[in-house]
Amino acid sequence: MSNVEIPAGLKELLQGYTVEVLRHRPPNLVKFAVQHFTQILENQRNDQRAQKCSAKSAKKGVTFETNNSTKDDEEDEEDNDSEYNKSFQVCFLLFKFLSFTAVCAEAYNPDDDEDDEAEPRVVHPKTDEQRRRLQDACRDILLFKNLEQEQFSEVLDAMFEVLVKPQEHIIDQGDDGDNFYIVEKGVYDIFVQKDNVSVCVGKYDNKGCFGELALMYNTPRAATIIAMQEGALWGLDRATFHRLIMKNNAKKRRMYEAFIECVPLLKSLELNERMKIVDVLGVRVFKDGERIIMQGEKADCFYIVESGEVKIMIKSKTKASQHNNTEVEVARCSRGQYFGELALVTNKPRAASVYSVGETKCLVIDIQAFERLLGPCMDIMKRNVSQYEDQLVALFGSSVDLKH
Ligand code: CMP
Ligand code: CMP
Repeated sequence: MSNVEIPAGLKELLQGYTVEVLRHRPPNLVKFAVQHFTQILENQRNDQRAQKCSAKSAKKGVTFETNNSTKDDEEDEEDNDSEYNKSFQVCFLLFKFLSFTAVCAEAYNPDDDEDDEAEPRVVHPKTDEQRRRLQDACRDILLFKNLEQEQFSEVLDAMFEVLVKPQEHIIDQGDDGDNFYIVEKGVYDIFVQKDNVSVCVGKYDNKGCFGELALMYNTPRAATIIAMQEGALWGLDRATFHRLIMKNNAKKRRMYEAFIECVPLLKSLELNERMKIVDVLGVRVFKDGERIIMQGEKADCFYIVESGEVKIMIKSKTKASQHNNTEVEVARCSRGQYFGELALVTNKPRAASVYSVGETKCLVIDIQAFERLLGPCMDIMKRNVSQYEDQLVALFGSSVDLKH
């Protein structure tokens, strides 16, 4: 398709279709495409008819339709023909696009798995010691956070140990996705190819997980992951990932779609970008008084308050109170507000501690997903840093630079 000129409007048409698919989740994408584009064509024709009528009334005052075709009518017909050709060309490209994605993307719809109960359950036997190590490695995996107990133990049964050597490529960008991986031990660099140059965009340092994107969206691997030292991973096969994690994600989308739409920070994102955030987020519940973030610690995730309230506390800068380790409350966040972005944006330790006030439920996004998906919101977050600095000046008197 490289030498085919993309007609104007194709991108918008495809985007419109994608948004409708995400909204309605139709079981049959092609049938839905036919209905969607037929409706657009009908609307275009109605608009053209309406324009023709009003143009004629404007030209001739009161109009009486006759059977004699005038030059205007012929020009209109020609316009309609070229409009029709354009629509045909767009539809042709669209269906090429749909069949192309159908062949190479094989988009996964968890609701298609009607008889997944009948699918054989994958079990890799493990010693008690292996199972204990695996459970430890899975403790903070956000994708597993809202699995039911039964689903979680199925996931644990299906996981298999992978021992890796330094410089081993676990995943190569562009490959098909086979497994999802959880890090038990070792450091793994993440490389993304940009303009033919491989750039290291981050690393997994003895924790985290990767390899979910190709399995979730049936796309080629989006990054290369290389072990920097000897390490240990736990793998989960594609079929089990689909059956358990994707089914759970469909539930997550239904639960959080409406809430995520109302989060002010995320307003500038497209609907499908917001849904990608829902796919990777985890939900965590904190008890009254529980510390969610500790000032000075290394940061690895970002939070949005779904319900309840948190208070932000900073250790006072005055010498006397520093000695007592006194914390001063600087702000509160409630439903729809976020916290924990500062350390991720500035690459510095946590600037404050955060505590739950009553029971609080937060949506949690890990640092890799934060960097990958929240780029478009970065300006808003950076602007807020100046507000934090102003707050701190008001509280402690001296000027504060949180960015450097
Ligand atoms: P997947 O595309 O299946 O395989 C490569 C993985 O690298 C990807 O899933 C993510 O889990 C992980 N990853 C981490 N950072 C990035 C990034 N910036 N872009 C793409 N993938 C990333
Ligand atoms: P982070 O530094 O990652 O962790 C503590 C969070 O508290 C911080 O990100 C901000 O999201 C939040 N916060 C709210 N008000 C302030 C403030 N005045 N100074 C620093 N952090 C603040």
